[in-house]
Amino acid sequence: MDRYGVFGNPIGHSKSPLIHRLFAEQTGEPLSYEALLAPLDDFAGFARRFFAEGKGANVTVPFKEQAFQLADSLTARAQRAGAVNTLKKLDDGSLLGDNTDGAGLVRDLMVNAGFELRGKRILLLGAGGAVRGVLEPMLAQQPAALVIANRTVAKAEQLASEFADLGPVVASGFDWLDAPLDLIINGTSASLAGELPPIAASLIEPGHTLCYDMMYGKQPTAFNCWAAEQGAARALDGLGMLVEQAAEAFLLWRGVRPDSAPVLAEMRRQLA
Ligand SMILES: NC(=O)c1ccc[n+]([C@@H]2O[C@H](COP(=O)([O-])OP(=O)(O)OC[C@H]3O[C@@H](n4cnc5c(N)ncnc54)[C@H](OP(=O)(O)O)[C@@H]3O)[C@@H](O)[C@H]2O)c1
Repeated sequence: MDRYGVFGNPIGHSKSPLIHRLFAEQTGEPLSYEALLAPLDDFAGFARRFFAEGKGANVTVPFKEQAFQLADSLTARAQRAGAVNTLKKLDDGSLLGDNTDGAGLVRDLMVNAGFELRGKRILLLGAGGAVRGVLEPMLAQQPAALVIANRTVAKAEQLASEFADLGPVVASGFDWLDAPLDLIINGTSASLAGELPPIAASLIEPGHTLCYDMMYGKQPTAFNCWAAEQGAARALDGLGMLVEQAAEAFLLWRGVRPDSAPVLAEMRRQLA
């Protein structure tokens, strides 16, 4: 059995062990996967001890930047994201760092929701790690415009300038916008506190705009409730992104892409 796991602190809440166990059962891949509480003061030492034997790991809050530093080599998307959520031990024993969050979001939107990103006007709310991680894969789909709006506008401006070479990306404040968008993605952590980024209702074109909250929970998030009230065509949550980023990691480790649909359905059932 090859050994895998997820490093985080705290880690008890992680759904990754269940997702990867379901992927392993489905594909017949002989692997174990466990949640591992890494110490806040010695992430690198903990990870190195794990990789004496372990083959791969996911990395979650608050270690994604430290995993970026630890990796011996990086995929282009991890390099751009400045953060690593997946580590793989290569045959020579070195560690490859990848970031599958953005690919997970893009796949959830394009494959699961059937939403084409090319040529679309997209608003991304937030300018933290999650938004940074999805910019490269989103821009690779060639949207007509990608606006990053954040409470602290300087952080949105910083991201827009860092990614400007990849496509039409601009920064904004929440209250600078009033024209409707095709897609609005909430990548802020406001939903954690049941709060809403203060954006105008006119950004939603009833029956047309797709709204997506990277957060998920048993109940619809505050953002998705608001989006539904404004008549959004659909309001989706981030559970699909979570399952799809895991599927991308599994593919990197094992060379096999699991069928995410039944696993997403099972996760949805368990969440309810
Ligand atoms: N589904 C998935 O697989 C997945 C993966 C990654 C992340 N996520 C979710 O994405 C969200 C963001 O994560 P992160 O890692 O990017 O967090 P982060 O780095 O801490 O960034 C938080 C962002 O939210 C903004 N914010 C916080 N509270 C706000 C409020 N009350 N009103 C408006 N804006 C607010 C911050 O604005 P300032 O810059 O002004 O402080 C910042 O842009 C979390 O809910 C996380 O659970 C989901």
